[in-house]
Amino acid sequence: MEKTLAIIKPDAIKKKLAGKIIDRIYDKNFNIAGLKMLHIQENQAKEFYKVHAERPFFNDLVKYMTSGPVIVAVLEKENAIKDWRNLMGATNPAEATEGTIRKDFGENIEANAVHGSDSPETASIEVPFFFPD
Ligand code: CMP
Repeated sequence: MEKTLAIIKPDAIKKKLAGKIIDRIYDKNFNIAGLKMLHIQENQAKEFYKVHAERPFFNDLVKYMTSGPVIVAVLEKENAIKDWRNLMGATNPAEATEGTIRKDFGENIEANAVHGSDSPETASIEVPFFFPD
């Protein structure tokens, strides 16, 4: 069983899409091993996204991720990392495949509804970042 970190981002929470997104997660046979709502603090957002620190969109990304509550969850299944990324769709909702979460619910490349770990190495950092136990 592989684990990955999912975040339902502030834009999706504001639009009350959390239930629909969680339904899609269950429909694809993920187990939800942990789930909580929280408001990410600025220092946490900077740490979480530190690989993007030099990117031009970094400050906006931190502002956006701290603009309202998020739901963080640990998703579990075989191939969880790849399967969750397939279910999310491309980073830019305009380029995402039909039927993916970002295509259906994302607003733009920043407010793109959900996050998922991009590799086993990233997941092994991101899961304990929000679920240290
Ligand atoms: P995520 O998968 O959480 O990883 C980095 C985030 O940065 C991305 O989703 C978007 O929310 C945000 N972002 C904003 N602008 C860009 C961009 N030009 N390219 C990639 N990610 C961006």
